[in-house]
Amino acid sequence: MKEITNFSKSDAYRKRIHDLIPGGAHTYSKGDDQFPILSPAAITHGKGSHVWDPDGNEYIECLGGLASISLGHAYEPVIERVAAELKRGNNFSRPSVLEMEIAEKFLANIPGHDMIKFAKNGSVVTTAAVKLARAYTGRTLVARPAEHPFYSYDDWFIGSTDVKSGIPNAISNLTITFKADDLQSLRELFEKHPGQIACVISEPEKMNALEPDFLKNAIELAHQHGALWVMDEMITGYKTDFPGSMKKYNVVPDMTTWGKGIANGFSFCCLTGKKEVMELGGIRKTGAEKLFLISTTHGGETSSIAAALATIDEFKKHDVIGHNQSMGQKFIDGSKQIFNSHGLSNSIRNLQFNWHASLGYFDKDGNNSFGLRTLFHQEMIKRGVLFQGIFCPHFSHSESDVNYILNAMDEACSLYKKGLEEGYEKYLIGEAIKPVFRKII
Ligand SMILES: Cc1ncc(COP(=O)(O)O)c(C=O)c1O
Repeated sequence: MKEITNFSKSDAYRKRIHDLIPGGAHTYSKGDDQFPILSPAAITHGKGSHVWDPDGNEYIECLGGLASISLGHAYEPVIERVAAELKRGNNFSRPSVLEMEIAEKFLANIPGHDMIKFAKNGSVVTTAAVKLARAYTGRTLVARPAEHPFYSYDDWFIGSTDVKSGIPNAISNLTITFKADDLQSLRELFEKHPGQIACVISEPEKMNALEPDFLKNAIELAHQHGALWVMDEMITGYKTDFPGSMKKYNVVPDMTTWGKGIANGFSFCCLTGKKEVMELGGIRKTGAEKLFLISTTHGGETSSIAAALATIDEFKKHDVIGHNQSMGQKFIDGSKQIFNSHGLSNSIRNLQFNWHASLGYFDKDGNNSFGLRTLFHQEMIKRGVLFQGIFCPHFSHSESDVNYILNAMDEACSLYKKGLEEGYEKYLIGEAIKPVFRKII
């Protein structure tokens, strides 16, 4: 198995980039404080499931573009379609005809939803859903599960995390939380704030495997209390099922948000929903008050729409979901066996799902350990696996990729075990990873 030791160009990049870009990246999840120091600081290019760094090191990437890659990097049928569209122009002063094509094609997969609005980022569409819910209900409060990590970088969400700097309390106080996957907790929230909650926003799957009727009952509960249900399928979309958990659980929320994966890494996200809510953002009802929904210069960019169209075609042509989930299951089964064989099954635990398989790292007292996490990732990266705790399979991840990842894991476990027993500090080079949502840098 290879051993990567040269990160000199990455080190130079790390040194310079923070003078130029606050945070050094365009999502905090890609930042230097999320990786060991012995890691690529940036990527030069990718193909299929592999990526390369500025020093020429090659890796299998486990969380393709933070779960936005569903088919593979530079996946031919997608980039051919994008390239063809680029030659015909990328942005015009009126909508491209492709907007109608993708609207009809995307909505055809979502029974119960009549309208769609595009954006370049997931945060924009979740925020748009909140605005519509507030306008539709005439209420101000937003309810979200306390344990779920992320819905938007906008103030309504970030104000409800530990990272509140720059956000007035008046805004933070409008987002309230309940215990994830717990109907009683949600019921109590509605009882505590009667007639005030505009919507519940929740990912359909996050903490536990859901009771079959959980979502149906939760949506009904929200409706009984006059609130809307926004399902955030940013991560589950094109992963749990096609198009996502709405189909898997046969439920129709009032609005659903989509992003990662629906255009194979291209910047195409969208909000879908029921006509009576979505139409509030329209301009047909002369005399009614106007609601300023998503309105951006780049929202209808043809190259990204082309990527979304090509991605739908590939999902229809091949059993992408089946392939991805079988790779994820192989990862889960193989890694469990490895952790067992090293006597580590209490320290490294498989959490969650075969479409987004993540690991948790715990010290001898059972506490979540960022030091051990960093040590494990250091050892995986050294062996050519760009691992940040999650394997999110896509269509270019092959069986041999998963076998390679598992072999790297097997080797990484040996040093990890020493770190667990003797203290991770002895084996970790550089600092431990820090949580993204922390009050103090
Ligand atoms: C569940 C969920 N919702 C919304 C977002 C925001 O998406 P974006 O990063 O495209 O703004 C994310 C991003 O990680 C997410 O995981």
